[in-house]
Amino acid sequence: MDDETAHRPKRRVATTLTHAGRDPSAFHGFINPPVVHASTVLYPNVKGTRTRTQRYTYGRSGTPTTDALCDVMNELEGSEKTVLAPTGLAACTVALASAVNAGDRVLITDNVYHPTRSFADGFLRRFGVEVVYFDPLDHAAFDRELEKGAAAAFFEAPGSLTFEVADIPYLNARAKAAGATTMIDNTWATPLYFRPLEHGVDLSIHAATKYIAGHSDLLLGTVSGNGEAIAKVRKTWDDWGENVGPDDVYATLRGTRTLHVRMPHFERNARLVAEWLDADPRVGKVLYPALPGAPGHALWKRDFDGASGLFAITFKGRTEDEIMKMVDSLELFGIGASWGGFESLATMPVVNKFRSAKAWPDDEPLVRLNIGLEDPADLIEDLDRAMAHL
Ligand SMILES: Cc1ncc(COP(=O)(O)O)c(C=O)c1O
Repeated sequence: MDDETAHRPKRRVATTLTHAGRDPSAFHGFINPPVVHASTVLYPNVKGTRTRTQRYTYGRSGTPTTDALCDVMNELEGSEKTVLAPTGLAACTVALASAVNAGDRVLITDNVYHPTRSFADGFLRRFGVEVVYFDPLDHAAFDRELEKGAAAAFFEAPGSLTFEVADIPYLNARAKAAGATTMIDNTWATPLYFRPLEHGVDLSIHAATKYIAGHSDLLLGTVSGNGEAIAKVRKTWDDWGENVGPDDVYATLRGTRTLHVRMPHFERNARLVAEWLDADPRVGKVLYPALPGAPGHALWKRDFDGASGLFAITFKGRTEDEIMKMVDSLELFGIGASWGGFESLATMPVVNKFRSAKAWPDDEPLVRLNIGLEDPADLIEDLDRAMAHL
């Protein structure tokens, strides 16, 4: 918050999303910030290149376009600074790398997005970091690992394949007490429905690729935080030479303007589809934390302000081949591994390829559904027709 905004009453999220990151008076009255394509920034004289006191110094260090998106994210997350990364994965990896040194231990939730796991197993281990995965629901095991030391702890809730809801306030408080820097992949909830910094988490990370940008047409990541934790992220980000092209930054900013309009719609559609699935005798579990009776519902209700449109289901007594045939016959759901866009998607992840602390039951193959903005009645009809193959 700068001096000009310090006096202002705290705005509600819809107002923030409409007004943050805009300063028409700085751009000849134009409502939106310019899309600044830039490497070189000129200085008035050589002394200026040495003191670097002017606001913009080089394309990679920030532009009015990147500042606008960072301002929006800072207002949403309650953070001092946001770093923009070229992908959601790059946001996860830069945050992790910033918080550990050779010889440190890092604790990572077993349900973490699997390329983040791959970075930890490969890059971090190669540089002498001990990587330990923990079952997010097993508090005793987590506490035991903390006793052995942890420089950082990485959370994700709910998991984006299996949708366990970790008790983030508990895990975070324990990790902080043990001296760890804490961070969470907050992509599922968006900052509208979960604000990690309010729970004491140091860094909130998003694949803005998903809901924040919202249109399945770009990749972008964000890391938001305060103090030393985000300063270290910024330093690692600088050292790695990360940058995001201005068109993708602008398109993400444009996405933020309707985030509060889209999210409740995703939740409403997902609830209707999840409730219909829950009542169908062919369906085993509906792993949608917003659904009463679903795993993690009580914690979701306690800590989250809403739910997005991504969840998974299992089927009763069906083989993987039968379920695959059903998914292949869906007409409105594209077969795709991403989520958070306007369109519905279905996928069948091989969960145990990416687990080590606790295996997912082999006899419960998962179908993950990203519920989009179609009419939910059409989505339900599509599922019903495809499920006739079971
Ligand atoms: C939970 C989660 N985090 C991070 C990412 C990575 O985002 P990106 O594809 O922008 O690298 C994904 C992508 O699917 C994801 O599902």
